[in-house]
Amino acid sequence: MNAPVVELKHTWKTYQAAGRGTVGVMDVELTVEGGKLVLLLGPSGSGKTTLLTLMAGLVAPSSGTVAIGGRRLDRLSPVELQRLRARDIGVVFQAFNLIDALTALENVALVLQFAGNGRREARAAAGTVLAGIGIGNLGAQLTSQLSQGEKQRVAIARAIANRPVLLLADEPTASLDSGHGLEIIEILRRYARDSQAAVVVSTHDPRLADFADQILHISDGKMKKRD
Ligand SMILES: Nc1ncnc2c1ncn2[C@@H]1O[C@H](COP(=O)(O)OP(=O)(O)OP(=O)(O)O)[C@@H](O)[C@H]1O
Ligand SMILES: [Mg+2]
Repeated sequence: MNAPVVELKHTWKTYQAAGRGTVGVMDVELTVEGGKLVLLLGPSGSGKTTLLTLMAGLVAPSSGTVAIGGRRLDRLSPVELQRLRARDIGVVFQAFNLIDALTALENVALVLQFAGNGRREARAAAGTVLAGIGIGNLGAQLTSQLSQGEKQRVAIARAIANRPVLLLADEPTASLDSGHGLEIIEILRRYARDSQAAVVVSTHDPRLADFADQILHISDGKMKKRD
C-alpha cells in the first residue's frame, strides 16, 4: 500500500488573541491517500480553514504533527519546507489571492517559475494548464477583469500547475451558482484521479458529497469521520 500523502496525528491548533486562547482544531487524526477527494464539511468557524492551513504548512500545529509524503513538516528546515510547499502542495484560497495586475497566464506562470522553471518554459506550461481546464482562451486577460467562476478556475490552474501531490481547496464553490460549482468540483476530482493526488476540499455545501471518496464532518474544531 502507498504511504499516505498527508497524515495528521493528534494535531491541535489554538490561537492566542486578546489574551484568550481559541481552539482552531482539536486532536485531529486524519490520513488521505493519493487519488482520493476528501470533503471537509462544517459550518462557519468550525475549523476548516485552520485545518487546510496546517496541511499546507502555512501554520505550525500547537501540538501534534503534520506529515506530507511521510515527511514531518516540523522536522524540515525553512528552505526544505518552502521547497515542499512550492512543488508538492497546491492551495486554492477562499479569496483566490490572484495577482490582479497580472494576466491569467502570468499568474499561473509565476508559480512555475517559483518551482524552478525558466520564464519561457513556465509560460508555455501555464498555457497548457489553462487549456487543460477549459480556459485556454483567458490567458491574456487581467484577472481583475474575470468573473468569479473564471477567477476560480485560474486559481485552480495555478494550484495544480506544478502537479502537486496534495491539493487543498478552501470553499472553492462558495461564490458560484450550483452549475458552476459542480464543474469546479468535477475538475478537482479529475485532478485527484489523473494525478493520483490527494485532494482536500472544504465546503458548507452538502451537494458536493456525491463527488467525494470520503466525507469528514467538522464542528467546533473537532472532526467526526463518516464514509
Ligand atoms: N488568526 C486567528 N486568530 C484567532 N482566532 C482565529 C484565527 N483564525 C481562526 N480563528 C478561530 O478559529 C476558529 C476556526 O476558524 P476557521 O477560520 O478555521 O473556521 P472555518 O471553518 O474556516 O470558517 P468559515 O466557514 O467561516 O471560513 C474560529 O473560532 C475562529 O474565530
Ligand atoms: Mg474558512
